[in-house]
Amino acid sequence: MSERDIETIKEIVKEHTEWRGSCINLIASENVVSRRVKEMLVSDLGNRYGIGFLHNRFYSGTKYIDELENYTTELAKNVFAAEHVNYVPISGTMANLVLFNALTAPGDVVTALSVIDGGHASFRECSKIHGVSLVPMPFSMEDMNIDVGEAKRVIARVKPKIVLLGASEILFPHPVRELRGIADEVGAIVAYDAAHVLGLIAGGVFQDPLGEGAEIVTGSTHKTFFGPQGGIILCKGKYAKLIDNAVWQLVNNHHIHRVAGLSVALAEFRAFGRDYAKKVVSNAKKLAEELYNCGVDVLGVDKGFTMSHQVIFRAPNGNGDGAAKRLEEANIVTTKTPLPSDKTEEECSGVRLGTQEITRTGMGEEEMSKIARLIKRVLLDREDPSKVREEATKLARCFRTVKYSFDEGPAYEFLEFS
Ligand SMILES: Cc1ncc(COP(=O)(O)O)c(C=O)c1O
Repeated sequence: MSERDIETIKEIVKEHTEWRGSCINLIASENVVSRRVKEMLVSDLGNRYGIGFLHNRFYSGTKYIDELENYTTELAKNVFAAEHVNYVPISGTMANLVLFNALTAPGDVVTALSVIDGGHASFRECSKIHGVSLVPMPFSMEDMNIDVGEAKRVIARVKPKIVLLGASEILFPHPVRELRGIADEVGAIVAYDAAHVLGLIAGGVFQDPLGEGAEIVTGSTHKTFFGPQGGIILCKGKYAKLIDNAVWQLVNNHHIHRVAGLSVALAEFRAFGRDYAKKVVSNAKKLAEELYNCGVDVLGVDKGFTMSHQVIFRAPNGNGDGAAKRLEEANIVTTKTPLPSDKTEEECSGVRLGTQEITRTGMGEEEMSKIARLIKRVLLDREDPSKVREEATKLARCFRTVKYSFDEGPAYEFLEFS
């Protein structure tokens, strides 16, 4: 009986892998990892603990773990040009929780974008956990960005503990430099959630929050970065102890196979990250232009659509949920998203796309035009999605190899290492 269970589980995972390898994967928060990263994820490190700090562990048996973590920290400081790095948080959400844990007390105020304007739900949830009031950062639909003038007025009035920039829907660099002055005046710390754009920042193609005045950057390691799934915090040296102690309170076991995977990903990014990040953004621009030319209502038209990996459009009849479902039927995987003009978060009249995964598997301008036309056929021409699926699948199956790595290998495989 138990072996049958295992066969069933394997079958489910195999089918999932084969299906997603047959889809055009446009979720802006996901990516594929190289075979070298996958090898680390199945290593013995996944069975071990590294509780404590470097060279000061609670359990024995960690001499190679110390060596690995030392190596990883140096690589990360180099790749992110950061004075201090902590990759112990196991997700971007956890990294945000650490930020609030380190810097806020009940009754404090934090300013950040609300979900409807692109902020992440963790801004709200972390505020609730720490008894903090979250004041929405004003947003300009015209600029598809934070409204700097209004934001300055809000910050001056509410005197937040943290001015938190960064977002889940982020087409253009956020005004770090512009808001640093007013933050200083009211004694606020500028922090930046780079969950989405970490790889673009490290690749030098988006913005440099630490260089522009942010003190602390939180992020996910698996969206535009090379993975594996995890969280990270970058900060100025003077916050190192505060952040490390706040992490220590929240994470007991930080999954060291993930650290080994991150280490490999950092080495890959150091070698190939700049070329990759450049291509991610140029692909996003091309995809947005092609969609717009097909008649899709792409946001940010007056600003050149996007400077990140994301493309956002208003779905026909404002039905983002219906659009994402129809596209999934055609093997085109996207995310419904609220737009700033929606009345509630649940309305989700938009669709968000990301070009990071399709870039990592080698797609370029020609494929962006093809994808735009497939999306148009499903959403605007109302063709039967199952008819479009054949072409989408054919295209997806030509791009199943992880590029920008030392050892180009399958992106979508059911792993059975010898
Ligand atoms: C801005 C932002 N912060 C944090 C997160 C959470 O990251 P994770 O999924 O790694 O917990 C996300 C997720 O998409 C995000 O968009």
